[in-house]
Amino acid sequence: MNAKSSVVSTEKLDEIIQSFDSKKSNLIAILQKVQETYRYLPEEAMIYIGSKVEGLSPATVLGVATFYAQFSLEPKGKFEIKVCDGTACHVRGSMPVLNAIRAKLNLQEGQLTCDNGLFSLETVSCLGACGLAPVVVINDKVYPQMTSDAITIVLDTLMKEAE
Ligand code: FES
Repeated sequence: MNAKSSVVSTEKLDEIIQSFDSKKSNLIAILQKVQETYRYLPEEAMIYIGSKVEGLSPATVLGVATFYAQFSLEPKGKFEIKVCDGTACHVRGSMPVLNAIRAKLNLQEGQLTCDNGLFSLETVSCLGACGLAPVVVINDKVYPQMTSDAITIVLDTLMKEAE
């Protein structure tokens, strides 16, 4: 919670806004860059952009950010876990894998990021690797043919690496 209000640097935001010529028509690109920088869109950043870029308002920026699924309004973990729940992955057992991750990270229903901020979890539709189903992607690494046991070992390894 505190992280939301303390991570934003107005110097950094000014730099991003200026790199896109402070143009309203570049709003999506500005938001993408902000998300890349902070791994999500802090509310404070959206309000700032809305007040700095001519022709925008904080409400407009918030509306645009909420509309597009590519934007996350919640902080993401250091490790972003994506569990494919497309048809092939679902049929081959993505749900038990997802449940194993939730249990391992102690995530409550609706909770996307674990309490220590190390992992965030989301389901995605087909990743285009159905032959490897069920597929999990952590950051940019693809983990094929996952099982509950295998993903638990992967998470243990990442937890140790992060220590
Ligand atoms: S359904 Fe999961 S990769 Fe296609």
